[in-house]
Formats: sequence, structure tokens, C-alpha cells
Amino acid sequence: MEIIVTKNYNELSGVAAKMVIDQINKKKTSILGLATGNTVLGFYKELVKAYHRKEIDFKKIKTFNLDEFVGLDDTDHASLFYFMRKNFFDKVNLNPRNVNMLDGRAKNLNVECKKFDEQIKKSKGIDLQILGIGLNGHIGWNEPGSGFKSKTRVLNLTLSSRRAQSGNFENLRQVPKKAMTIGMGAIMEAKKIMLMASGENKADIVAKALTGKVRKKVPASILQRHPNLTVVLDEAAAAKLHKSVK
Ligand code: GLP
Repeated sequence: MEIIVTKNYNELSGVAAKMVIDQINKKKTSILGLATGNTVLGFYKELVKAYHRKEIDFKKIKTFNLDEFVGLDDTDHASLFYFMRKNFFDKVNLNPRNVNMLDGRAKNLNVECKKFDEQIKKSKGIDLQILGIGLNGHIGWNEPGSGFKSKTRVLNLTLSSRRAQSGNFENLRQVPKKAMTIGMGAIMEAKKIMLMASGENKADIVAKALTGKVRKKVPASILQRHPNLTVVLDEAAAAKLHKSVK
């Protein structure tokens, strides 16, 4: 595992975007696994800027997003699809046909999840998976207890995760109780993973995930076993890592 500690959020966003730029310039048909959340906002901004500077071309890139709320689709401003359109998809030259989002309003959610895994497989897997981390160690929405080989599926969100999302809704009660997430299996099968974390409130979970025991209670801890993991942190999020691992 490679850990890059940056001075602040801006630098983190630039370093993370650079990794994607390098990946795409190396392979114009890369398959990217994408994440939502506050952490990745600056990263998407940097990618959009690089696109305008003509440093990057998304024409042949295919994307798979990690997750979506059950019951919401891109017409709903709190959906993750809407987040992606607003912050990234609508601002670059991605072909809409190459964008894969789980449909939170699919008639049969289990079939939708199965189809997603099949599409990832058909695309020969994810080249670069972008991840954030939840306060409880979730990746995507694989909440604590998720099997390390789990498939894409519907699951119940923990209260901690719903609280973290409540800013995007009128109140906590409006936050869906269920979500769909890519499984840990597909994440671990990605050829390369980049995990980002920012801010002091992530310092504890970052230390647990990267240096603690690998266990289901901390889903992100499985990333220690990935052969090609890069972690990009700001100083605040790295504060509880021992000097030796930094
Ligand atoms: C969300 C998403 C994750 C994201 C994580 C961190 O709930 N499901 O994909 O990485 O939680 O979010 P944030 O960056 O806002 O802290």
C-alpha cells in the first residue's frame, strides 16, 4: 500500500485527480469506479478543470458508480445520480451510454444489482476504483458486517450513515433507510484502488482501517489485502497513523 499525505484538502484533490489523469492517458478506454460524498467534490472539480485544459478526454471512458439510495433516481436532487450529474457527468465529455448507475427505482432491485455485477464483469472489471470512507469504515455502502466477497445488493443503512447524509435531505427521517451498493467482491477485484479521506473526523477510522486488524466490523480494513492500493490523505485525516506507516 502506498500512502500519500498531502498538506490540505486542495492538495489532496489535485493529487487524486492526477492519478485519474495518468490512468486515462495510459489507457483511453479505462473503466473507472466512482464514488460520491463531500470528500470527492474537490477531486471532481480538478478533473473538470483538467478536461477544460484539454489534459484529459473522457470520450471512451466507462464508469460504474458505487451506490444509490433505494427509491431515488436522477430526477431527485438528493440522489447520488443527481450528485454525479451536477458535479461531474454533465461537465465532461463522457458518453451517457458509458455511464453506469444503479437504478434506485428499478422494479426489481435484486435483478438490477445482479445486472450491475454482470455489466462490470462484461467490461472486464474496474481499472481504477475511487473510494471514500464512512465514519464507521464503510466503503461504497458496505456497512460493518458486510462479507468481504459480497456481491452488489440492497442493504439497510446504519443510523451513522443516515445521519452523515441528512444534510442533503430536509431531515433525518427523509433519508432512505435502504441503499444499493456494489459488493466488496467487485471493489477488491478492481485492478487499482485509490482511497481518499480528509479531515480530523476521519483520522480514527483511517488508522483503524489501514493499520488495525482486518475484520468485517471495519469493512475498509480489507483494503490492506489489495495488491495495488494508494491512499491519499490530508494531514488531518492522517493524524492518527504512526510515523512508520506514513
Ligand atoms: C457515503 C458514500 C461513500 C462515501 C462515504 C464518505 O455514504 N456511500 O461512497 O465514500 O460515505 O462520504 P464523505 O466523503 O461525505 O465523508
